[in-house]
Amino acid sequence: CGIVGYVALGTTPDNKKFDHTAYDVVLEGLRRQEYRGYDSAGVAVIGDNGIEFRKKAGKLVNLAEAVEASPLSESSIGIGHTRWATHGGPTDANAHPHVVDGGKLAVVHNGIIENFAELRSELLDEGVQFLSETDTEVAANLIASIYNKLENKDLTEAIRLASNRLEGAFTILAIHEDHPDRVVATRRNSPLVIGLGENENFLGSDVSGFIDYTKEAVEMGQDQIVTITGEGYEIIDFDGNSAEGKPFHIEWDATAAEKGGYDSFMEKEIHEQPAAVRDTLMGRLDENGNLTLDDMKIDDAILRSIDKIIVVACGTAAYAGQVARYAIEHWCRIPTEVELAHEFRYRDPIVNEKTLVVSLSQSGETMDTLMAVRHAQEQGAKVVSICNTNGSTLPRESDAVLYTHAGPEIAVASTKAFLSQITAAYLLGLYLAQLRGNMFKDEIKTILAELQEMPEKIQKLIDNEQQVKDLGTSMKDADSVLFLGRHVGFPVALEGALKLKEIAYIHAEGFAAGELKHGPIALIEEGQPVFIVVPSPNGRDSLHSKVVSNIQEVRARGAVTIVIAEEGDEAVKAYSDHLITIPASPSLLQPLLSTVPLQVFACALAAAKGYDVDQPRNLAKSVTVE
Ligand code: G6P
Repeated sequence: CGIVGYVALGTTPDNKKFDHTAYDVVLEGLRRQEYRGYDSAGVAVIGDNGIEFRKKAGKLVNLAEAVEASPLSESSIGIGHTRWATHGGPTDANAHPHVVDGGKLAVVHNGIIENFAELRSELLDEGVQFLSETDTEVAANLIASIYNKLENKDLTEAIRLASNRLEGAFTILAIHEDHPDRVVATRRNSPLVIGLGENENFLGSDVSGFIDYTKEAVEMGQDQIVTITGEGYEIIDFDGNSAEGKPFHIEWDATAAEKGGYDSFMEKEIHEQPAAVRDTLMGRLDENGNLTLDDMKIDDAILRSIDKIIVVACGTAAYAGQVARYAIEHWCRIPTEVELAHEFRYRDPIVNEKTLVVSLSQSGETMDTLMAVRHAQEQGAKVVSICNTNGSTLPRESDAVLYTHAGPEIAVASTKAFLSQITAAYLLGLYLAQLRGNMFKDEIKTILAELQEMPEKIQKLIDNEQQVKDLGTSMKDADSVLFLGRHVGFPVALEGALKLKEIAYIHAEGFAAGELKHGPIALIEEGQPVFIVVPSPNGRDSLHSKVVSNIQEVRARGAVTIVIAEEGDEAVKAYSDHLITIPASPSLLQPLLSTVPLQVFACALAAAKGYDVDQPRNLAKSVTVE
């Protein structure tokens, strides 16, 4: 799931010895990318006697111990990998690198090679012997076989030819003992960035793979190959034509990816939410007071003509999409659907030039979402992406982009990205309403002003989080927790349940409160904890009172009610076993507040159970396979 490559010249530009070895750089890069999720890790370097490698199942500390027990040579070239098992369990043998051809070639790989069975049988016919069942070993042997047939023994050319034979999604990095001065990498539909140092260069699945060493990076396109040496880099496409990378400066520093005194990244990121929302709102008005998007390649006339919006996303981002739907339909009067990207892609959806597809993604690399976007584009739809990662694939392939400025999100379970996705989706709704004349400038300004107040209100919730933390700790032995909500509170309930599943491994479910009597109420028995997200009493009357009735219904059947309601909401008090209050806000904006206690609750409960809240079992931060 995380990849690092490194190569340096013998000395720094002022002729000094580097203060780090390839192994140091690779291990640090893997550590920084731990957040992506993994279950085994490995590293390979080239020493005086050729390739040396170590690989271990489990966390990086196991790898570090293996290297300590049996040190690697000091080297100036190396590759490393953290693997999230897809085919084949997380064992030492299945970990990467895969070293083939009598120990001459080492390969690490992210993604899935779909035609590996066919390639494997070809290679078996050639007499290749396989040690594992993995697709990576097939790719490695394919590269070796092609390389050995090349007269000029050009590693880049071997990888180019191999890339043309591989189907599926992949980032592959290779080092060969004949070429101790270069790392060659190829990518298709799987992330890879180049980092530029002085007399040393880097590769990473994302910039955190080399953030400790350089802030200068280069983005590369799909179906491209890069060769890095200590002196520079060269990109070609799969046909061998030379290609340009797009250099960029990394805005955040390494400390943005440190815990900074918190027990976990998740806790830190929950606390960063006021800033994440504020930064996402910042600088969105031009000199005429009109809302603008970051990167706009869609004609206004087209946006005026769209007759349907489809939001595609996965996981937490899909819940942000559900919140967005309420706002977009209300403000823009455009029918809006929200769909899990993987479901959308395969159900033959009705999409045409008049459809606007909005993709929501923290990483910008979620393969399911990317495939949904491509599918929509093929049918003529325009795509706007809301994304947190500059230069990632989704924004690059979209017609317009709205960046969420949440900063790097390290914990696997998404928190600040969720709030900033909702914020950005509101902005998109307002932008479309402005463009299509559904709203006057003054109305938009009023909503924007209300949005500007949200960071302070979120801060207030965080300042008073102790009550919720204590509740989370006290409920650590619960084996099931339910969440209810209506209107925008419904996706909030779903997100609250997801957080608990993800990090506390507790059965948790979110329901539309109105659906209660159609089934879920049968689950309620004595002592069952139920969260209820209550809409503002100042919003639509009927909505508030209906939810209050729902609280009574579950409580009458023995539920322990944990009620999230606005300050001053008297109606809920009598039915709340635990009452968590949130500042008053316009109904549509309430998710920016009501979500926060649910995040704090899940985090505290999981921590009380002794779990690693940042890296929950079986999950990856960014799922770059379909
Ligand atoms: C993974 C993560 C989730 C995340 C989802 C979508 O499943 O574990 O936390 O919500 O991917 O990720 P994205 O980067 O597209 O927002």
